[in-house]
Amino acid sequence: MTEKYAEERVSAEQTIHLTVNGKPYELNVGSKPDQVGPSHTLAHTLRETLALTGTKVSCDNGACGACTVLTDGKAILSCMTLTVECHEKVITTIEGLMDPKTGRLDPLQQSFIDETAFQCGFCTPGIIMSAKALLDENPSPDEKEVKEALSGNFCRCISHYQVVGAVLAASEKAR
Ligand code: FES
Ligand code: FES
Repeated sequence: MTEKYAEERVSAEQTIHLTVNGKPYELNVGSKPDQVGPSHTLAHTLRETLALTGTKVSCDNGACGACTVLTDGKAILSCMTLTVECHEKVITTIEGLMDPKTGRLDPLQQSFIDETAFQCGFCTPGIIMSAKALLDENPSPDEKEVKEALSGNFCRCISHYQVVGAVLAASEKAR
């Protein structure tokens, strides 16, 4: 959807309905601080409007994967997605992976801890969300498929040594 089309569509609706981490939100489109501007990215809205700062913005240019979230179950770059494009979508961020009743981490998050695979605070949420999308679609990936799924997540410190193992371990435990 082009920005112009999205603007026209939403200016007709004036309100964006979306579900984030199981919670419904109604966001008004406009230029006030608590409103969503037509050019706001989903990353901006998640962090600045909904205070969900678990999603990180690093390059803000579609190059690093730090801002990865799930939209209708698919991994997307929230810095490259306009919020107005998310009307009636279901979004999951890193905050939404924990079980809200028990407070237990998602098995994938736990696997990152168990395998000492957590990366820096900028990279980890995006890596986990990319891996989550993979395991939801393919619960038994092989190493090549894990690497492929995470190929859009870049870090500057080159310390991804345990990440692939953590994703494979989470997959094995779920079987
Ligand atoms: S912050 Fe979105 S891809 Fe880098
Ligand atoms: S893990 Fe974040 S820069 Fe390497």
